[in-house]
Amino acid sequence: MDYEDDIYDLSLLYEEQHADFTEDLAFHEQLAREAAGRVLELGVGSGRVALHCASRGFTVDGIDLNASMVERANQRAVEAGLRERFKAFQGDVRSLPAGQQYKLAIFPFNSICHLLTETDLQACLAAVYASLLPGGVFVPSLFLPDPLLFTRNPESLYPVADFYSESRQEHMVIYEQASHNPLTSLTTHSWFFDGDSTEETFNRSFTLRVWHIQELVDQLVRTGFTVKQLYGDYAFQAADAASVALSLRCVKDR
Ligand SMILES: C[S@@+](CC[C@H](N)C(=O)[O-])C[C@H]1O[C@@H](n2cnc3c(N)ncnc32)[C@H](O)[C@@H]1O
Repeated sequence: MDYEDDIYDLSLLYEEQHADFTEDLAFHEQLAREAAGRVLELGVGSGRVALHCASRGFTVDGIDLNASMVERANQRAVEAGLRERFKAFQGDVRSLPAGQQYKLAIFPFNSICHLLTETDLQACLAAVYASLLPGGVFVPSLFLPDPLLFTRNPESLYPVADFYSESRQEHMVIYEQASHNPLTSLTTHSWFFDGDSTEETFNRSFTLRVWHIQELVDQLVRTGFTVKQLYGDYAFQAADAASVALSLRCVKDR
């Protein structure tokens, strides 16, 4: 991920924007319960999922590229009295540190789409595979993009989020300009943050890879995983053609 101004430097705003997104918490909690062992969250952010699992008694390590996210996640762990069960580390999911091995690795909330090339994806999958114990489980989750994204006018602004920011004491709206390159399967997003109490607006840009499920399955199998299930929601139901929130249950058999 090569950002000029990393959107994830806005860790407090990220947290406030997604505070209401709780749909996947029980799903990850259940995966941690089944794993009955140490959990690794890839792209942990400010700890939305990891802190929930730690609060339910599971031991979680988180890794994230962004220093601001890591600092915020660790601060929240201290504030919640969960320091014994959750720690975040700064690092890259394409080269996980050797040593600790896990029963479960999760990659929630579309973070896998920050891996922009096949080389990045392969490096990450190999690193995850190496960091799992035999029988360990890997569950990446992603959203299928709204097809309108591919036909939008790249000059037009579309609202994507609307929330109250405690830290800024103002109501924020985020508008997006987005364009898709069908040759590279990359989408470029520019987000314009507009608060209602000041004239100031600021923007951040980021790029995501639109991974097709079959591409992911192929790379997972090539890495050595057995892909056991493709879920289409956070209630462990099998995916169908209408599903938009997908999770893959992958197992390191030996
Ligand atoms: C969409 S956020 C998800 C945060 C958190 N998992 C959640 O569910 O709220 C994506 C996170 O992935 C991190 N990230 C992106 N590329 C990464 C990489 N190569 N290695 C580690 N973290 C990365 C970003 O810094 C960001 O915090």
